[in-house]
Amino acid sequence: MADASGRGRFITLEGVDGAGKSTHIPWIARQLRAAGHAVVVTREPGGTPLAEKLRSLILCEAMDPLTETLLLFAARADHVQHIIRPALERGDWVLCDRFGDATVAYQHGGKGVPIQLIERLGEAAQGGLTPDRTLVFDCSYEVSRERLAAAGRAPDRFEREDRGFFDRVRTAYARLAENEPSRIRRIDGANNLEQIKGELRKHILVL
Ligand code: TMP
Repeated sequence: MADASGRGRFITLEGVDGAGKSTHIPWIARQLRAAGHAVVVTREPGGTPLAEKLRSLILCEAMDPLTETLLLFAARADHVQHIIRPALERGDWVLCDRFGDATVAYQHGGKGVPIQLIERLGEAAQGGLTPDRTLVFDCSYEVSRERLAAAGRAPDRFEREDRGFFDRVRTAYARLAENEPSRIRRIDGANNLEQIKGELRKHILVL
């Protein structure tokens, strides 16, 4: 079910590592499908064969912040062009695990890459495409580390960063949410599953 323009809705999930966003994606997709929407679930970095190859490099290979930023935008350009835009134009809803806000939070907030550069690359890669709704899952450093330890897999390059990096990313997400309250909603990732589902319904099924 698309709106009068025929375009679907673009929803992104964001937040610090370990805040629990990925756990909720299948449930959100089911809710949207039950409401009659065709839903495409995808992620960044990734979402196309090329972008998934770039994801492996970005998450595993040592590189400087500028190189990392350029690779993230290369992956995003391919993803927007081949998956996200065509889906929205068909009238599908797109549920994307991370998008442009992650680059502002991690590469600018966390690593100090100039915001002007990120904005310019964003214009080129996204061509004005902005999510209709963004859910930022938030949690403390302690909760994040407990969850990552419980996951029992080797941490990636971003998950291995120190507490200072985590706090800068968390603060950057909080600022983004403050600056764009109509698009970005904060979800307390430390809440129990039922509380979180209630919040998600409120923010998504009204779109
Ligand atoms: P994920 O664990 O949520 O799949 O995300 C992979 C990692 O990539 C996560 O630690 C955040 C990082 N990332 C960035 O640093 N910048 C970005 O623009 C994106 C999309 C992800």
